[in-house]
This record gives sequence, C-alpha cells and structure tokens, in this order.
Amino acid sequence: MKHIHIPLKYKLLLVFMAFLLFFSLSLFLTCTSTAEEKETTVVRRTPHRTAVPTPSPPKAENIGDVSLFKKYEPYFSIGAAVRPSYIKSHDKILKFHFNHLTIEDDMKFGGIHPKEDTYNFKSVDMICDYARENNMKLTGHTLVWHAQYAAWLFKGLKPGDKDDIELLKNRMKEHIETLINRYDDIVDNWDVVNEAISDSGGKTYRDNNEGSKWYDIFQNEDFIYFAFKYAQDALDAKDSKAKLFYNDYNTYNQAKLKKILNMARWLRDEKNVRIDGIGFQAHWNMSGPAVSDIKLAFDAIIKEGFLIKISELDVSVYTNDNWGQKDWEPEKKFDEQMAKQQAEYYKSIFALFREYSEHITDVTFWGVSDDDSWLDWFPTKRNNYPLLFDDDYNAKAAYYAIIDF
Ligand code: GLA
Repeated sequence: MKHIHIPLKYKLLLVFMAFLLFFSLSLFLTCTSTAEEKETTVVRRTPHRTAVPTPSPPKAENIGDVSLFKKYEPYFSIGAAVRPSYIKSHDKILKFHFNHLTIEDDMKFGGIHPKEDTYNFKSVDMICDYARENNMKLTGHTLVWHAQYAAWLFKGLKPGDKDDIELLKNRMKEHIETLINRYDDIVDNWDVVNEAISDSGGKTYRDNNEGSKWYDIFQNEDFIYFAFKYAQDALDAKDSKAKLFYNDYNTYNQAKLKKILNMARWLRDEKNVRIDGIGFQAHWNMSGPAVSDIKLAFDAIIKEGFLIKISELDVSVYTNDNWGQKDWEPEKKFDEQMAKQQAEYYKSIFALFREYSEHITDVTFWGVSDDDSWLDWFPTKRNNYPLLFDDDYNAKAAYYAIIDF
C-alpha cells in the first residue's frame, strides 16, 4: 500500500480540530441536560425508577387463557400501572388482560408540568391514545401530591403568606383544569389528592416534617378542599361524570382510616364538595394485612357512603422487614412454596373484593410483570416478585388463583 506523507503541521491541525469538535459537543450536551434537570427536580419518597432498565419485548407466550378483565367484568375493572414503553413491551398482555390503565409516573405534576408555562403531554397522550384504541379507561394519577412535583411550583413561596397562597391556588387550579380538559374523555376517575394524611399518631395531616410543601405553604389542610373544588368545577363545566377519589396507603389501618374518613366527611358535609371514594394503594405482602382488617376498613368506608377502589395493588414476598429499624430481609429466590403462599393471599383478597364488588370501582395492579416492579428498588434494592406474571411474562400461580372461582 502506498504511504501518504502528511506534514507534521497538518497532523497537529487535525488533532486540534478533533479536540475542538469533541469539546464543543460535550459542552452542548452538558448544558442541555442540566437545564432540563434543574427545572424538573422532583421529590420522591421512593427511589427513582429510571434506574430500572427498559423491559425487553415479550419473552414468553404463556400469559394464561382466561382474560382477567373478562372474567371480572361482572365485578369491577381490572387495571395496570404502565409506563410509556409498555405499549410495545407489554402490548399483548395488556390488551388481553386489562381494561383499565394508570400511568405510573408521567401524569404526575413533575412529569407533565415541568415548567410554569410548559406542559409535557407527549407520553401521556400516547398512553391515552392506546387506551382509546383498546377500549380501556384511565385513572388520572395524580393531581395533588407532596412528591414528584416540579421545583418551580413552590419555589420562593413563603409559608402562610396570603399572596403566595393565592398564587399557589391559581397554579393548582390551572393545572387541574388543564389536565381535566385534556383527558376527560378517557379518564373515569381522578386521584385528586394523594397521601395527605399523616402516619404519625399525634396529627391528622402530613405537614412539612413529613414532606408536604402543600401543607407548609397553606399552613393547614385547605389545599385538599381547593383540589377537590377545582376538580369538581372543571368536571361540572364539561358535564363529566368522572369520579373523584382520595388515594393513600395503609388505608386498612383503623387509626389512619379514621383520619381519612374525618377528612372525607369534612369535605363532603362541611365544605360541600364532591368526593366519591377512597383509594387503597394496597402495596401489601404475602402475609398481610389480614383479610379481616381489610373487611373492617371496607365496612367503615361503605357506612359513610363512599366508594372504594384498589388503586396500586402488589403483593411483596418479603414479610419480615423491620420498618421501624429499616432492617430489610435479604434477597430471596422465588420458589414454589413462595408462589403458593402468594397465590393463596391473592386468592383470599380477591374473594373479598368480589364480595364487596358493588362498592368497588376497579382493582389496579401496580405494574404488569415481575421484571419491572418498583419493589425491586423499594425499600431496598433486591428482586421482588409481587405481580401475577413473572419476569418472562408467564402467568404465575397467583394468576390461576384469582381466576379459579
Ligand atoms: C405511591 C404513589 C405511586 C407510586 C408508588 C411507588 O404509592 O401513589 O404513584 O409512586 O408510590 O411506585
């Protein structure tokens, strides 16, 4: 091969130009991503799910022969929490088994409204279109929550300041109206407020010490009233029948439920706003809560005239975590014994759900298959197997347990 001689000064010039190109490219990339991140900083009580790899396309075909939503048609809708990538990765299983969807993250304040004058509708629109094409309905999750909000929302606002409270009310109203106006045709129920009740004994509402900026700026629980009022007004203006829910975890716990019901009565009877029901997040485990406790909670809610929905169901296989000391069980392998125990628990809670189906609007799983569950990262990083379908999308014993009746 003929050797081409390049003089040293040209060689140096070439190296210099390559360096310049590399430097400007990386500068450009850094600037654009940090600007984006700053505006959309969100606060979560759980690790961020972007750590989870995007699921690969379906690996197995054994998703079960009996459609969950068809089997449960006489009782309630069957839902799944989805991420945008699921439209491809879980397409077959979603269409066959589910007639209701909740968007896991993208409809939350921080995801859909990252800057004051910017909405990011793209992925929510995409999932809503998918739901429309497949005759599914959606839960609007969630309008007001203390976590996963965009940083601009509370920036510079002073607790208890009258003008700042007005400003925050206007921001809340605009946000709620925008979402309801855009998605009313497909959303049949809204999680108007999520997790506003305190877990600690001495107080009713989650305040700044438990991470609520909403409570902190208002210095009281009035933000809950305004959220329901703005949602109701926006729905009334459209003559919409979509239901308005309060959603929380540990709803089976009598002490917490008492606070939730006090709040719900305050809204309905004193503030005269519509609240249709209470959502049980239902992040449970194979040994509890006991069916009898859930039943007591259902009875108390029904007695007050509210509906129930199971909004974020999953059944962890870790039953001995010590939450007080943050001492988590070491990773387990999912064996037959575990599959059996989990199936039995699923069977017993679904028998209860059917018994109360007249009062239950839908049962939604928090995810579709075990390959991609938030419980792989929460409360610590370890594999969990909380859903009806395994890592390869095969139907598990739990699936057979809930269709066998
Ligand atoms: C809460 C929220 C959900 C989700 C889960 C964790 O339950 O309501 O939106 O963030 O935490 O994944």
